[in-house]
Amino acid sequence: MEDLKAKYLTAIAEAADESALESLRVAAVGKKGEVSLKMRELGKMTPEERQVAGPALNALKDEINSALSAKKAALADAALDERLRSEWLDVTLPGRQRPAGTLHPISQVSEEVAAIFADMGFAVAEGPRVESDWYNFDALNIPGHHPARAEMDTFYMKRAEGDNRPPHVLRTHTSPVQIRSMQEHGAPLRVICPGGVYRCDYDQTHTPMFHQVEGLAIDKDISMANLKWVLEEFVRSYFEVDDVELRFRASHFPFTEPSAEVDIRCSWEGGQLKVGEGDDWLEILGSGMVHPKVLEAGGIDPAEWQGFAFGMGIDRIAMLKYGIPDLRAFFDSDLRWLRNYGFRALDVPTINAGLSR
Ligand code: DAH
Repeated sequence: MEDLKAKYLTAIAEAADESALESLRVAAVGKKGEVSLKMRELGKMTPEERQVAGPALNALKDEINSALSAKKAALADAALDERLRSEWLDVTLPGRQRPAGTLHPISQVSEEVAAIFADMGFAVAEGPRVESDWYNFDALNIPGHHPARAEMDTFYMKRAEGDNRPPHVLRTHTSPVQIRSMQEHGAPLRVICPGGVYRCDYDQTHTPMFHQVEGLAIDKDISMANLKWVLEEFVRSYFEVDDVELRFRASHFPFTEPSAEVDIRCSWEGGQLKVGEGDDWLEILGSGMVHPKVLEAGGIDPAEWQGFAFGMGIDRIAMLKYGIPDLRAFFDSDLRWLRNYGFRALDVPTINAGLSR
Protein backbone atom coordinates (compact mmCIF):
# COMPACT_ATOMS: atom_id res chain seq x y z
CA MET A 1 0.00 0.00 0.00
CA GLU A 2 2.89 2.30 0.80
CA ASP A 3 4.35 1.56 -2.64
CA LEU A 4 1.05 2.39 -4.33
CA LYS A 5 0.76 5.60 -2.37
CA ALA A 6 4.30 6.72 -3.19
CA LYS A 7 3.89 5.79 -6.86
CA TYR A 8 0.64 7.71 -7.41
CA LEU A 9 1.40 10.76 -5.28
CA THR A 10 4.71 11.27 -7.13
CA ALA A 11 3.11 10.75 -10.54
CA ILE A 12 0.27 13.17 -9.67
CA ALA A 13 2.74 15.80 -8.49
CA GLU A 14 4.62 15.51 -11.77
CA ALA A 15 1.56 15.41 -14.11
CA ALA A 16 2.00 17.99 -16.85
CA ASP A 17 -1.63 18.58 -17.79
CA GLU A 18 -5.23 17.59 -17.18
CA SER A 19 -5.24 14.62 -19.52
CA ALA A 20 -2.21 13.09 -17.74
CA LEU A 21 -4.09 13.60 -14.45
CA GLU A 22 -7.16 11.86 -15.86
CA SER A 23 -5.09 8.80 -16.93
CA LEU A 24 -3.64 8.61 -13.42
CA ARG A 25 -7.13 8.79 -11.88
CA VAL A 26 -8.32 5.92 -14.08
CA ALA A 27 -5.20 3.84 -13.30
CA ALA A 28 -5.51 4.34 -9.53
CA VAL A 29 -9.12 4.81 -8.45
CA GLY A 30 -11.06 4.12 -11.67
CA LYS A 31 -13.34 1.03 -11.79
CA LYS A 32 -10.43 -1.22 -12.74
CA GLY A 33 -7.77 0.91 -11.08
CA GLU A 34 -5.12 -0.56 -8.84
CA VAL A 35 -6.67 0.75 -5.62
CA SER A 36 -10.14 -0.41 -6.65
CA LEU A 37 -8.86 -3.91 -7.42
CA LYS A 38 -7.21 -4.05 -4.00
CA MET A 39 -10.56 -3.10 -2.42
CA ARG A 40 -12.18 -6.04 -4.14
CA GLU A 41 -9.71 -8.34 -2.42
CA LEU A 42 -11.12 -7.27 0.99
CA GLY A 43 -13.84 -9.92 0.59
CA LYS A 44 -11.31 -12.73 0.65
CA MET A 45 -9.70 -11.53 3.88
CA THR A 46 -10.38 -12.64 7.43
CA PRO A 47 -12.48 -10.17 9.45
CA GLU A 48 -9.39 -9.21 11.44
CA GLU A 49 -7.33 -8.50 8.34
CA ARG A 50 -10.26 -6.63 6.82
CA GLN A 51 -10.52 -4.37 9.86
CA VAL A 52 -6.99 -3.15 9.27
CA ALA A 53 -6.86 -3.15 5.47
CA GLY A 54 -10.33 -1.63 4.86
CA PRO A 55 -9.80 1.76 6.53
CA ALA A 56 -6.23 1.91 5.22
CA LEU A 57 -7.41 1.41 1.61
CA ASN A 58 -10.19 3.97 2.05
CA ALA A 59 -7.67 6.41 3.43
CA LEU A 60 -5.36 5.76 0.45
CA LYS A 61 -8.26 6.30 -1.97
CA ASP A 62 -9.19 9.59 -0.28
CA GLU A 63 -5.59 10.74 -0.26
CA ILE A 64 -5.19 10.03 -4.00
CA ASN A 65 -8.51 11.74 -4.79
CA SER A 66 -7.60 14.87 -2.90
CA ALA A 67 -4.10 14.92 -4.45
CA LEU A 68 -5.82 14.69 -7.86
CA SER A 69 -8.16 17.61 -7.21
CA ALA A 70 -5.42 19.73 -5.64
CA LYS A 71 -3.21 19.15 -8.67
CA LYS A 72 -6.13 19.89 -10.99
CA ALA A 73 -6.68 23.24 -9.29
CA ALA A 74 -2.94 23.98 -9.40
CA LEU A 75 -2.83 23.25 -13.16
CA ALA A 76 -5.82 25.56 -13.77
CA ASP A 77 -4.12 28.32 -11.76
CA ALA A 78 -0.93 27.89 -13.75
CA ALA A 79 -2.86 28.05 -17.02
CA LEU A 80 -4.57 31.25 -15.91
CA ASP A 81 -1.24 32.76 -14.85
CA GLU A 82 0.20 31.91 -18.23
CA ARG A 83 -2.75 33.53 -20.01
CA LEU A 84 -2.51 36.66 -17.89
CA ARG A 85 1.20 36.85 -18.65
CA SER A 86 0.81 36.41 -22.42
CA GLU A 87 -2.27 38.61 -22.80
CA TRP A 88 -0.85 41.43 -20.76
CA LEU A 89 -1.70 44.89 -21.96
CA ASP A 90 -0.31 48.20 -20.85
CA VAL A 91 -3.47 50.26 -20.47
CA THR A 92 -1.41 53.31 -19.61
CA LEU A 93 -0.04 53.57 -23.18
CA PRO A 94 -1.35 56.64 -25.06
CA GLY A 95 -4.05 55.92 -27.70
CA ARG A 96 -3.07 55.76 -31.35
CA GLN A 97 -4.55 58.72 -33.17
CA ARG A 98 -6.66 57.78 -36.19
CA PRO A 99 -6.07 59.99 -39.23
CA ALA A 100 -9.19 62.10 -39.76
CA GLY A 101 -10.42 61.82 -43.34
CA THR A 102 -11.66 64.78 -45.35
CA LEU A 103 -14.02 65.15 -48.27
CA HIS A 104 -12.18 65.70 -51.55
CA PRO A 105 -12.85 69.13 -53.14
CA ILE A 106 -14.38 67.38 -56.16
CA SER A 107 -16.91 65.59 -53.93
CA GLN A 108 -17.60 68.85 -52.10
CA VAL A 109 -18.12 70.83 -55.32
CA SER A 110 -20.29 68.07 -56.83
CA GLU A 111 -22.50 68.26 -53.72
CA GLU A 112 -22.64 72.06 -53.94
CA VAL A 113 -23.59 71.94 -57.62
CA ALA A 114 -26.27 69.30 -56.96
CA ALA A 115 -27.71 71.36 -54.08
CA ILE A 116 -27.97 74.50 -56.24
CA PHE A 117 -29.58 72.75 -59.20
CA ALA A 118 -31.88 70.68 -56.99
CA ASP A 119 -33.25 74.01 -55.77
CA MET A 120 -34.12 74.82 -59.39
CA GLY A 121 -35.86 71.49 -59.95
CA PHE A 122 -33.03 69.49 -61.54
CA ALA A 123 -32.59 65.82 -60.65
CA VAL A 124 -29.19 64.10 -60.66
CA ALA A 125 -28.62 61.44 -63.36
CA GLU A 126 -25.64 59.18 -63.88
CA GLY A 127 -24.31 57.07 -66.72
CA PRO A 128 -21.50 54.58 -67.37
CA ARG A 129 -17.90 55.71 -67.81
CA VAL A 130 -17.26 52.99 -70.39
CA GLU A 131 -19.64 54.11 -73.09
CA SER A 132 -20.59 52.95 -76.58
CA ASP A 133 -19.39 55.21 -79.37
CA TRP A 134 -23.03 55.72 -80.35
CA TYR A 135 -23.89 57.40 -77.02
CA ASN A 136 -20.61 59.27 -76.78
CA PHE A 137 -20.57 60.52 -80.40
CA ASP A 138 -23.26 59.58 -82.95
CA ALA A 139 -26.28 60.32 -80.77
CA LEU A 140 -24.76 63.73 -80.03
CA ASN A 141 -24.58 64.53 -83.75
CA ILE A 142 -20.87 63.74 -83.98
CA PRO A 143 -20.71 61.33 -86.95
CA GLY A 144 -17.71 59.11 -87.71
CA HIS A 145 -15.81 61.61 -89.88
CA HIS A 146 -16.40 64.57 -87.52
CA PRO A 147 -13.19 66.34 -86.40
CA ALA A 148 -14.52 66.51 -82.81
CA ARG A 149 -13.82 62.78 -82.54
CA ALA A 150 -10.15 63.34 -83.22
CA GLU A 151 -9.98 66.51 -81.11
CA MET A 152 -11.20 64.72 -78.03
CA ASP A 153 -8.15 62.45 -77.67
CA THR A 154 -10.41 59.51 -77.02
CA PHE A 155 -9.35 56.38 -75.14
CA TYR A 156 -10.70 53.35 -77.03
CA MET A 157 -11.42 50.02 -75.38
CA LYS A 158 -10.14 46.83 -77.01
CA ARG A 159 -12.61 44.48 -78.71
CA ALA A 160 -12.14 40.72 -78.63
CA GLU A 161 -10.18 39.22 -81.55
CA GLY A 162 -12.42 39.02 -84.63
CA ASP A 163 -15.12 41.31 -83.19
CA ASN A 164 -15.52 44.03 -85.77
CA ARG A 165 -18.10 46.19 -84.04
CA PRO A 166 -16.92 49.74 -83.20
CA PRO A 167 -15.01 49.74 -79.91
CA HIS A 168 -16.41 51.20 -76.71
CA VAL A 169 -14.74 54.34 -75.40
CA LEU A 170 -13.99 55.89 -72.03
CA ARG A 171 -16.58 58.66 -72.24
CA THR A 172 -14.92 61.92 -73.29
CA HIS A 173 -17.69 64.06 -71.77
CA THR A 174 -20.85 63.74 -69.67
CA SER A 175 -23.05 64.62 -72.67
CA PRO A 176 -23.98 60.94 -73.40
CA VAL A 177 -25.93 60.98 -70.12
CA GLN A 178 -28.24 63.53 -71.83
CA ILE A 179 -29.24 60.85 -74.32
CA ARG A 180 -29.66 58.16 -71.67
CA SER A 181 -31.80 60.49 -69.54
CA MET A 182 -34.05 61.42 -72.48
CA GLN A 183 -34.48 57.75 -73.36
CA GLU A 184 -35.25 56.81 -69.78
CA HIS A 185 -37.55 59.66 -68.73
CA GLY A 186 -38.77 61.38 -71.91
CA ALA A 187 -39.94 65.02 -71.83
CA PRO A 188 -40.34 67.31 -69.95
CA LEU A 189 -36.99 66.79 -68.28
CA ARG A 190 -34.58 68.61 -65.99
CA VAL A 191 -31.36 66.81 -65.03
CA ILE A 192 -27.75 67.43 -64.20
CA CYS A 193 -25.23 64.69 -64.80
CA PRO A 194 -21.98 64.94 -62.83
CA GLY A 195 -19.16 62.45 -63.21
CA GLY A 196 -15.70 61.46 -64.39
CA VAL A 197 -14.63 61.74 -68.02
CA TYR A 198 -11.44 60.76 -69.86
CA ARG A 199 -9.13 62.27 -72.46
CA CYS A 200 -5.56 61.43 -73.34
CA ASP A 201 -3.94 64.66 -72.17
CA TYR A 202 -1.60 65.63 -69.33
CA ASP A 203 -0.17 68.98 -68.19
CA GLN A 204 -0.78 71.57 -65.45
CA THR A 205 -4.39 72.12 -66.54
CA HIS A 206 -5.19 68.70 -68.05
CA THR A 207 -5.36 65.21 -66.54
CA PRO A 208 -6.39 62.03 -68.38
CA MET A 209 -9.39 61.75 -66.03
CA PHE A 210 -11.34 64.77 -64.91
CA HIS A 211 -14.91 65.71 -64.00
CA GLN A 212 -17.77 67.44 -65.72
CA VAL A 213 -21.34 68.28 -64.94
CA GLU A 214 -23.85 68.26 -67.74
CA GLY A 215 -27.15 70.13 -67.55
CA LEU A 216 -30.26 69.45 -69.60
CA ALA A 217 -33.69 71.09 -69.52
CA ILE A 218 -36.40 70.05 -71.98
CA ASP A 219 -39.87 71.53 -72.17
CA LYS A 220 -42.28 73.14 -74.64
CA ASP A 221 -41.17 76.75 -74.29
CA ILE A 222 -37.54 76.73 -73.21
CA SER A 223 -35.29 79.37 -74.73
CA MET A 224 -31.77 80.81 -74.45
CA ALA A 225 -33.25 83.28 -71.93
CA ASN A 226 -33.98 80.41 -69.53
CA LEU A 227 -30.46 79.10 -70.06
CA LYS A 228 -29.01 82.53 -69.24
CA TRP A 229 -31.08 82.92 -66.08
CA VAL A 230 -30.31 79.42 -64.81
CA LEU A 231 -26.57 79.86 -65.36
CA GLU A 232 -26.51 83.30 -63.72
CA GLU A 233 -28.42 81.95 -60.78
CA PHE A 234 -26.02 79.03 -60.55
CA VAL A 235 -22.86 81.15 -60.70
CA ARG A 236 -24.19 83.58 -58.07
CA SER A 237 -25.03 80.76 -55.68
CA TYR A 238 -21.92 78.75 -56.37
CA PHE A 239 -19.37 81.56 -55.97
CA GLU A 240 -21.43 82.98 -53.10
CA VAL A 241 -21.40 86.51 -54.54
CA ASP A 242 -24.39 88.81 -55.08
CA ASP A 243 -23.41 90.16 -58.44
CA VAL A 244 -21.88 88.30 -61.33
CA GLU A 245 -21.71 89.17 -64.96
CA LEU A 246 -21.70 86.44 -67.56
CA ARG A 247 -20.68 86.87 -71.17
CA PHE A 248 -22.24 84.62 -73.79
CA ARG A 249 -19.89 84.15 -76.75
CA ALA A 250 -21.18 82.56 -79.94
CA SER A 251 -19.51 79.21 -80.42
CA HIS A 252 -20.04 75.84 -82.03
CA PHE A 253 -20.84 72.41 -80.69
CA PRO A 254 -22.29 69.60 -82.82
CA PHE A 255 -24.98 68.87 -80.21
CA THR A 256 -26.36 72.40 -79.80
CA GLU A 257 -27.69 75.03 -82.20
CA PRO A 258 -27.19 77.87 -81.50
CA SER A 259 -24.22 77.36 -79.19
CA ALA A 260 -22.51 79.65 -76.74
CA GLU A 261 -19.48 79.55 -74.53
CA VAL A 262 -19.94 81.35 -71.26
CA ASP A 263 -17.32 83.53 -69.59
CA ILE A 264 -17.48 84.99 -66.13
CA ARG A 265 -16.22 88.48 -65.18
CA CYS A 266 -13.26 88.30 -62.83
CA SER A 267 -10.02 89.89 -61.75
CA TRP A 268 -6.60 88.52 -60.92
CA GLU A 269 -4.86 90.44 -58.16
CA GLY A 270 -1.52 89.08 -57.05
CA GLY A 271 -2.44 85.70 -58.45
CA GLN A 272 -5.69 85.75 -56.47
CA LEU A 273 -8.87 85.31 -58.46
CA LYS A 274 -11.92 87.44 -57.64
CA VAL A 275 -15.19 86.53 -59.29
CA GLY A 276 -17.75 89.20 -60.20
CA GLU A 277 -15.47 92.22 -60.62
CA GLY A 278 -12.53 93.33 -62.76
CA ASP A 279 -11.66 93.43 -66.44
CA ASP A 280 -10.86 89.80 -67.14
CA TRP A 281 -13.11 87.07 -68.48
CA LEU A 282 -12.76 83.42 -67.69
CA GLU A 283 -14.42 80.67 -69.72
CA ILE A 284 -16.34 78.26 -67.51
CA LEU A 285 -18.68 76.27 -69.73
CA GLY A 286 -20.17 75.40 -73.12
CA SER A 287 -23.89 75.52 -73.77
CA GLY A 288 -26.68 75.96 -76.28
CA MET A 289 -30.11 74.90 -77.49
CA VAL A 290 -30.26 71.13 -77.91
CA HIS A 291 -29.90 70.15 -81.59
CA PRO A 292 -33.06 68.55 -83.05
CA LYS A 293 -31.03 65.49 -84.09
CA VAL A 294 -29.95 65.03 -80.47
CA LEU A 295 -33.56 65.19 -79.27
CA GLU A 296 -34.46 62.59 -81.90
CA ALA A 297 -31.62 60.31 -80.78
CA GLY A 298 -33.04 60.57 -77.27
CA GLY A 299 -36.50 59.58 -78.55
CA ILE A 300 -38.02 63.05 -78.11
CA ASP A 301 -40.00 64.75 -80.89
CA PRO A 302 -38.21 68.01 -81.82
CA ALA A 303 -41.42 69.36 -83.36
CA GLU A 304 -43.00 69.33 -79.93
CA TRP A 305 -40.13 69.87 -77.48
CA GLN A 306 -37.01 71.98 -77.20
CA GLY A 307 -34.44 72.62 -74.53
CA PHE A 308 -31.04 73.86 -73.46
CA ALA A 309 -27.92 72.01 -72.40
CA PHE A 310 -24.59 72.94 -70.91
CA GLY A 311 -21.37 71.25 -69.87
CA MET A 312 -19.03 72.55 -67.20
CA GLY A 313 -15.71 71.35 -65.74
CA ILE A 314 -16.12 70.47 -62.06
CA ASP A 315 -12.38 70.43 -61.35
CA ARG A 316 -12.10 73.82 -63.06
CA ILE A 317 -14.76 75.53 -60.96
CA ALA A 318 -13.33 73.83 -57.83
CA MET A 319 -9.91 75.33 -58.60
CA LEU A 320 -11.50 78.75 -59.14
CA LYS A 321 -13.59 78.81 -55.98
CA TYR A 322 -11.04 77.32 -53.61
CA GLY A 323 -7.85 78.79 -55.09
CA ILE A 324 -6.25 75.48 -56.05
CA PRO A 325 -3.45 76.17 -58.53
CA ASP A 326 -2.52 72.76 -60.02
CA LEU A 327 -5.11 70.34 -61.37
CA ARG A 328 -2.77 67.34 -61.17
CA ALA A 329 -2.64 67.60 -57.36
CA PHE A 330 -6.35 66.65 -57.29
CA PHE A 331 -5.41 63.09 -58.14
CA ASP A 332 -2.13 62.62 -56.24
CA SER A 333 -3.80 61.44 -52.99
CA ASP A 334 -1.23 63.44 -51.01
CA LEU A 335 -2.53 63.50 -47.42
CA ARG A 336 -1.06 66.94 -46.73
CA TRP A 337 -2.91 68.34 -49.75
CA LEU A 338 -6.13 66.58 -48.77
CA ARG A 339 -5.94 67.96 -45.21
CA ASN A 340 -5.39 71.44 -46.58
CA TYR A 341 -8.04 71.47 -49.30
CA GLY A 342 -10.43 68.81 -47.97
CA PHE A 343 -13.79 69.42 -46.31
CA ARG A 344 -15.37 68.09 -43.17
CA ALA A 345 -17.38 65.05 -44.16
CA LEU A 346 -20.50 65.87 -42.14
CA ASP A 347 -20.94 69.46 -43.36
CA VAL A 348 -23.44 68.77 -46.14
CA PRO A 349 -23.77 71.78 -48.45
CA THR A 350 -27.27 73.25 -48.56
CA ILE A 351 -28.68 76.42 -50.04
CA ASN A 352 -30.07 77.61 -46.72
CA ALA A 353 -27.32 76.59 -44.29
CA GLY A 354 -24.52 77.65 -46.64
CA LEU A 355 -22.64 75.80 -49.34
CA SER A 356 -19.07 75.98 -48.12
CA ARG A 357 -19.32 77.30 -44.55
N1 DAH B 1 -19.51 68.20 -74.05
C1 DAH B 1 -18.76 69.43 -74.15
C2 DAH B 1 -17.31 69.16 -73.81
O1 DAH B 1 -17.00 68.15 -73.31
C3 DAH B 1 -19.29 70.47 -73.23
C4 DAH B 1 -20.64 70.94 -73.63
C5 DAH B 1 -20.80 72.01 -74.48
C6 DAH B 1 -21.77 70.30 -73.17
C7 DAH B 1 -22.04 72.46 -74.85
C8 DAH B 1 -23.05 70.74 -73.53
C9 DAH B 1 -23.15 71.83 -74.39
O2 DAH B 1 -24.16 70.15 -73.08
O3 DAH B 1 -24.40 72.25 -74.73
O4 DAH B 1 -16.49 69.99 -74.05
